[in-house]
Amino acid sequence: MPWRNEILKQHSDRKADDLWRDLRSIESSPDRTIDVDGKSLLNFCSNNYLSLASHPELITAAQAATQKYGASTTASHLIAGHTEIHQRLEETIAHFVGAEKAVLFSTGYMANLAVPTTFLGRHDLLVEDRLNHASIIDAAKMSDAKLRRYHHCNAAAAGKILAKTESENTAQRKMLVTDGVFSMDGDLAPLDALHQICKDHNAVLVVDDAHGFGLVGPSGRGSLSSFDLAPNGNTMMLGTLSKAVGSFGAFVAGDAVYIDTLIQHARPFIYTTALPASVAAASLAAIGLFKSEAWRREKLNDNIQQFRKLANAAGITTTDSTTPIQPIIVGDSAAALEISAQLKEQGIMAIAIRPPTVPVDQARIRITLMTNHTADDIEQLVTALAGALAP
Ligand SMILES: Cc1ncc(COP(=O)(O)O)c(C=O)c1O
Repeated sequence: MPWRNEILKQHSDRKADDLWRDLRSIESSPDRTIDVDGKSLLNFCSNNYLSLASHPELITAAQAATQKYGASTTASHLIAGHTEIHQRLEETIAHFVGAEKAVLFSTGYMANLAVPTTFLGRHDLLVEDRLNHASIIDAAKMSDAKLRRYHHCNAAAAGKILAKTESENTAQRKMLVTDGVFSMDGDLAPLDALHQICKDHNAVLVVDDAHGFGLVGPSGRGSLSSFDLAPNGNTMMLGTLSKAVGSFGAFVAGDAVYIDTLIQHARPFIYTTALPASVAAASLAAIGLFKSEAWRREKLNDNIQQFRKLANAAGITTTDSTTPIQPIIVGDSAAALEISAQLKEQGIMAIAIRPPTVPVDQARIRITLMTNHTADDIEQLVTALAGALAP
């Protein structure tokens, strides 16, 4: 079987390049500490930013919904899977982010596949930031639209692409998709400029706010809200419920005309089972806590400030990120793996992120901070990082 040998060769090449990935079994909830390989480690690698994943209100809501609706919906939304909890969650999200309507998806990955593939075909143009999440890149492949990517966060470059297709009259529909907060860098897209450019060139703007929803902007309404914008008109917003929300699933919010189109035509929405009602109930509880426990965002922001201050005082180079995603760029994959292993020995879980998730020569330790980290935890992290980074 020659192809089997080919695959084995790919495996050995990947290992030789320090790019092989291993699964590890986690033995606890993703809280401030996490149990792995029989050890309790300080957890600096979950997206549980507001420490809501094991909040008693989410657990109680999920338990009550399981009692009432069972463990699974066993049907897609359009058949018999859309419970009144899903309906309430969609309405709550729409209201919270200032959109006319929202629709749930089972994952952010699927929501990202859904938007370009539903609206664009082979005569259309999809414009993307170079550092967009993999799911948005995959959506481009599936949509048949012409893909053009612009240099990271360079709104002027995005504008030039749109202007060129306009003058050449080479695209019918135009869509620009960007992460709101970039998942591996933690920086924010220049949404004010991108919004204006899209308006000027009659393009739809889609913001994937997987890492902004619940954190950024007034009350955590998302990256658009931090620029005084909302998912309306020709702007749509996508959010995940598995990160700051501490639950699972995703949504797209925007004007009803767009959301109704997704409900009618988006294959990743139509041809899959609706999320369990327990998961939707946990998400609803979490969005309630965004308001009633607003201190969680404040505490998280204090933790971010503390980390950056201590890291810089220890001579550790940080980026400009002001979000809980604080990458420490190492460059070489082997070096990043070695640093992650040293941190583990010091009782800290922080994972090496390597290509193709990040560009070649930009391997990094992706530190993520959360509300429940204490000042001591962060000090311990910085001390261990300084030791591991020392030449
Ligand atoms: C920017 C971004 N978009 C989308 C996703 C996918 O979301 P989900 O995990 O819900 O599939 C992720 C990460 O998981 C992400 O970082």
